[in-house]
Amino acid sequence: MSDDIRKQYPPDGNPRETFEGNRFEDARMQRVHDQLMRERPEPSENFAPLPLALTVLVMFLCVWAGLYLAKYTFEFDPFHYNEDRAANAVADEGPKEVDMMALGKRTFSQNCVACHQQDGQGQPGVYPPLAGSEWVQGNPKRLIAIVLHGLAGEVHVNGETYNNAMTPFGRLRDQQIAAVLTYVRSTPDFGNESDPVTEDMVAEVRDETSDQSEQWSQDQLDELYPIDG
Ligand code: HEC
Repeated sequence: MSDDIRKQYPPDGNPRETFEGNRFEDARMQRVHDQLMRERPEPSENFAPLPLALTVLVMFLCVWAGLYLAKYTFEFDPFHYNEDRAANAVADEGPKEVDMMALGKRTFSQNCVACHQQDGQGQPGVYPPLAGSEWVQGNPKRLIAIVLHGLAGEVHVNGETYNNAMTPFGRLRDQQIAAVLTYVRSTPDFGNESDPVTEDMVAEVRDETSDQSEQWSQDQLDELYPIDG
């Protein structure tokens, strides 16, 4: 029986029925696999297409991002966002409008607060107060000059003597200086109630004092920009 099967192989019937049949089957399998291993399919150079759902999602995200930028960036104007800006400000008032008190408060927090303190009281004997200061509520040009070029040596504020130094802040823009001085002169936080300082005033004093290369002394200021001048 086994000889018959060997001759007839591959048989039409099922070779697994016999032990020899299995052997032939194994040999054939081996041959087929050898061929397969030798002749691998050509590597494909096609791009695998993105799944449609992903394509749609990416397109949707691009459109959404574009709309979002158009609606909320306000031409990347850094002064558009003002935490204190009145929430009910008229929408078509234009995004260029700057809230000087909000900008002033921020400028103060970033540049002045370390010495003059959040409540404007300064530190006794070291940093003079801005709250209730006769200087702050006096001639605004004097204040602009101080912020632009700093102040050093002995000064007298509200009857107290200080002998320290304030660094110049001439690198701030006119608008920031006008804002910070408007803030210190009129914020209820300090109890001050003086007129605002405008950008034009800052530009004027910047121009007038362009030769000043050192911090002011009080004597210089008293002469050029007296408190009640
Ligand atoms: C490094 C600490 C320091 C910083 C920061 C500083 N100041 Fe002063 N400021 C002083 C000192 C000290 C004096 C007094 C100078 C002296 O003793 O000669 C002074 C004086 C003043 C005066 C006049 C005196 C008075 O108290 O009224 C004003 C106004 C003033 N500073 C405003 C500002 C503003 C506005 C800023 C922020 C833009 C600022 N200062 C940042 C230390 C500082």
